[in-house]
Amino acid sequence: MKLLDGKLVSAKIKEDIRQEAAAFLASAGRKPHLVAILVGNDGASETYVASKMRNCELVGFESTNIHYDADISESSLIDKIRELNADPTVDGLIVQLPLPKHIDPERVTAAIDHRKDVDGFHPVNLGRMQRNLPCFIPATPYGIMLMLEYYGIDTAGMHAVVVGRSNIVGSPMSILLARNATPGNCTVTLTHSRTRNIKEEVLRADIVVAAIGKKHFITADMVKEGAIIIDVGINRERSAETKSGYKLYGDVDFGAVSQKASWITPVPGGVGLMTIVGLLKNTLEAAKGSIY
Ligand code: GUN
Repeated sequence: MKLLDGKLVSAKIKEDIRQEAAAFLASAGRKPHLVAILVGNDGASETYVASKMRNCELVGFESTNIHYDADISESSLIDKIRELNADPTVDGLIVQLPLPKHIDPERVTAAIDHRKDVDGFHPVNLGRMQRNLPCFIPATPYGIMLMLEYYGIDTAGMHAVVVGRSNIVGSPMSILLARNATPGNCTVTLTHSRTRNIKEEVLRADIVVAAIGKKHFITADMVKEGAIIIDVGINRERSAETKSGYKLYGDVDFGAVSQKASWITPVPGGVGLMTIVGLLKNTLEAAKGSIY
C-alpha cells in the first residue's frame, strides 16, 4: 500500500501558488482576494472557513470573512453577493454551505458571478466542466484530480465507483473521472443511497471515491485487491484525546482497507488538505481573469 499524502502534495502546490501570488502582486499591484460568507454558527463550517482564510494568508492572498447571523434574509444575502460581484477588488466569492433552511442554496449559488464562483457550484461552471471547457472545478474534486496527477496515476480505462452523489463532491467527481482528460477516461459508476447493492458495485472498482459522510462505511470486504481508495469523509466525533476536542474519521475503514489497497488517502492528512489547494488555485485563476 502506498499513501496518497495530502500533507506533502498540498505543501508543494501551495508553495507554487505562493510564488504565483507574489508575481501577481508585482504585476497587478494587489493580492488575489477571496471573500467567504458564513451564515449562522455551524461548528464544522466555522472551522472550514477559518482554515480557508488562514491558508489564503499563508500563500499571500487577501481574505475577507463576512459572518451573518442565521436569521439573515435570503434577499439581504443576495444583495450582498451582488455588491461583491460588482467589486473589482474581489476575485473569488464563496458562500459556505449548508445554509439555514429558509435560504435556498440554489438561488444563492446562481446569484454569484460565475467568473468569481471559485467553488465551481454555479450552473455555468458545472456545464462547462462537463464539456471540458475552461471553468472553476469544485474544490474537493479538483484537489483529488491534482493528487492523482501529482502521483502520476493514469486512470484511463479504469472502472471508477463514486459513492455519494452530492453536488459538492460525488456528482462533479463522476463527471471529472469520465471526461476525456488525464486523469480521467474512466468508466464511472455513481452510487448513492438508493443503489441496490453497493458492496457488489464497489467490489468491481479499480478506483473508489468514498463521499457518503458515514464513518467507516467502506469496509475491507467491499474492496477489490489493489484498488485505489480516495476517502473524502470528514466525520467529526467529540473526543477528549485531541486538542480541538474532536476526532476525525473517514468514510473508509483505513486500518483494514489499507491492507488491500494499492493507494489510499488517510483521514486526516488526505483529501481535506487538497480541497484547500483546489480553492486557492481557483482563486488565483479568478484573479488572473482566466475564466471568461
Ligand atoms: N460545504 C462543504 N464543502 C464546501 C465547499 O467546498 N464550499 C462551500 N462553499 N461550502 C461547503
